[in-house]
Amino acid sequence: MMDILDGETKVFYATLPMGLERVSAREIEGFGGRIRELREGKGRVFFEGRMDLVPILNNLSRTLERVMLLLCNTHVSSLDDVYRVVKSLDFSFINPDQSFAIRSSRTGTHDFTSIDISREAGQGVIDSYLKDRKIRLKVDLDDPDIIIRVDLIQDELFVGIDTTGDRALHKRWYRVYNHPAPLNPSIACSMIYLSGWKKEKTLLDPMCGSGTIPIESAMMIRNIPPGKNRDFSYFEFLGRILPEFRESGDSSIILGSDKFRKHVEGAKENAKEAGVLDTVRFFQMDVEELKGIEAEYIVTNPPYGLRIGRKGRIKELYEILFERSMDVLTGDSILTLITPYGDLIRDLSIAFGFQIKEEMKVRYGDLDTTIFKLKA
Ligand SMILES: C[S@@+](CC[C@H](N)C(=O)[O-])C[C@H]1O[C@@H](n2cnc3c(N)ncnc32)[C@H](O)[C@@H]1O
Repeated sequence: MMDILDGETKVFYATLPMGLERVSAREIEGFGGRIRELREGKGRVFFEGRMDLVPILNNLSRTLERVMLLLCNTHVSSLDDVYRVVKSLDFSFINPDQSFAIRSSRTGTHDFTSIDISREAGQGVIDSYLKDRKIRLKVDLDDPDIIIRVDLIQDELFVGIDTTGDRALHKRWYRVYNHPAPLNPSIACSMIYLSGWKKEKTLLDPMCGSGTIPIESAMMIRNIPPGKNRDFSYFEFLGRILPEFRESGDSSIILGSDKFRKHVEGAKENAKEAGVLDTVRFFQMDVEELKGIEAEYIVTNPPYGLRIGRKGRIKELYEILFERSMDVLTGDSILTLITPYGDLIRDLSIAFGFQIKEEMKVRYGDLDTTIFKLKA
């Protein structure tokens, strides 16, 4: 019988925003995982480690979205193959009184849907368990004890135990104010890591919206786990306890500003919920008016003019951002931003004398964006 808690090294894979695999791999290594493979641009990292890594990553990772214990990675050519592959796997680690659910996804062209995948894979699990333990496992789609994730990408099948549960890791608890175009916190954290910001330096987000970048920066220096307040009852089945952590009273100068009062007030509400309102100074200001402020790091997510604002004004606004950044940034300083307008950023970097230190393509929802790290 398979024992997933036997202390042996296991293979896991994590999902994350597509394009940020190298940043997440560094984070996983920092927690003691050994990287096996990066699927660059595909939002997947494979790594090895013991089961102790599971609670650590689910509680402390700032850049991952999900962590799966890999059961199988293979190629299939039909729905029947999906059933056969799943049925051949060993699910005997599930207790007979536990329920399970399949969560599936599908990318590519197929003559079946993800609902078909869930149905066939579910039958495969039931038949495998019947064969091994002569018991029919219960399915509970709403509140399962165990989630088995089955992803089909073109003809590549991934089957794993989802150790994260239904609420992905980038869904932070503190979002009480919803901005119309909020940044995914996993991307925000990757941008902060990429920028190279250190807590003794001042960080400014001059277009902070609901405050994701300043709040996540503050949580980093205060050592507040992004998984704080998560409901971990889902992975009680793993029999693992949460890692100990100590929040720190460390401080830093973190600034967040936005043109609109309602976003600034919303950012404050979010920061309060996150427990970092005393660590970030939020204020209302048009980026055009940014004066009398000094920072070594600007990390920001300017508008794209797609969901909010007018596209025609974007070039002008980005020019203003670069111009004001020249005044704000002091010493050895860095401007890090995410945008779909790569050519514009390259032109502005030349025009304003910024050196491009890094470009990282990130698929953000249905948009192709790039994170730029620029040295002033
Ligand atoms: C993409 S949103 C930022 C979202 C934010 N990262 C979050 O997670 O909520 C861009 C923000 O830029 C702000 N903005 C637009 N024009 C501005 C200007 N001229 N000065 C300052 N902020 C501006 C908008 O109000 C909006 O909140």
